[in-house]
Amino acid sequence: MDWGLQNRLSRIIKPDTGKTVMLAVDHGYFLGPTSGLEKPAETIKPLLPYADSLMLTRGVLRTSVPPEADIPIVLRVSGGTSIVGKDLSNEGITTSVKDAIRLNVSAITLSIFVGSDHEKETLLALADLVDKGQKYGIPVLAVTAVGRDMARDAKYLGLCCRIAAEIGAHFVKTYYCDDFESVVNSCPVPLVIAGGKKIPEREALQLAYDAIAHGACGVDMGRNIFQSDNPVGMIRAVRAIVHEKATVEQAFAVYREGK
Ligand code: R5P
Repeated sequence: MDWGLQNRLSRIIKPDTGKTVMLAVDHGYFLGPTSGLEKPAETIKPLLPYADSLMLTRGVLRTSVPPEADIPIVLRVSGGTSIVGKDLSNEGITTSVKDAIRLNVSAITLSIFVGSDHEKETLLALADLVDKGQKYGIPVLAVTAVGRDMARDAKYLGLCCRIAAEIGAHFVKTYYCDDFESVVNSCPVPLVIAGGKKIPEREALQLAYDAIAHGACGVDMGRNIFQSDNPVGMIRAVRAIVHEKATVEQAFAVYREGK
């Protein structure tokens, strides 16, 4: 791996713990004004000091994050579909690597839809993005998007993560599942987990704890942080689990502190 690429990756996955707390605020790229993200600048501002990186689109980056902010950016460069459209898996690349470089991002990211009608296109888009990322020293995060009909089990997620790594993704975002170790053990690059739909805070902290305990290198969490009744408390609680080896009870106490 070359120096520039490794340098960018180490801004996201912190070398002192080998872990990361990514804040996902890219939901609007297909969901529109998601609850809690209607005004992204207001959502993001209080959470910035506690996030190791922000995952978002260029539109939200340009409009809602101050350029002087010291925060690594993981730029979503796929899209072109919407929640009211025919097929969410029919994504394409929406942002050039040249623009990503102009925006000084630390990584670029796209979704792959393994098992969907557009499996091949999304996997070839990943391959193309890895080629371009390698050329300019920018790591690529592959997101294993799961269609409604797909089981979120270790067999399927293990397949998706391994394919993403084989094509050259530098790290992969997936979902936590039973037997998560087998997904981790069969994927040669680091895995971060998505939070998924909003669930009670203690359950979301348990999810983060289980993922880290079973080998995830971090979380890329969105709704369970910004839709919480205490978003700052929640991201601080997640940090305690990911970076400080806190138990779920200790982390839950951190979440409740600021309420
Ligand atoms: C989905 O494709 C988006 O990339 C979201 O950023 C991702 O699902 C993580 O957010 P959440 O924790 O809300 O699931």
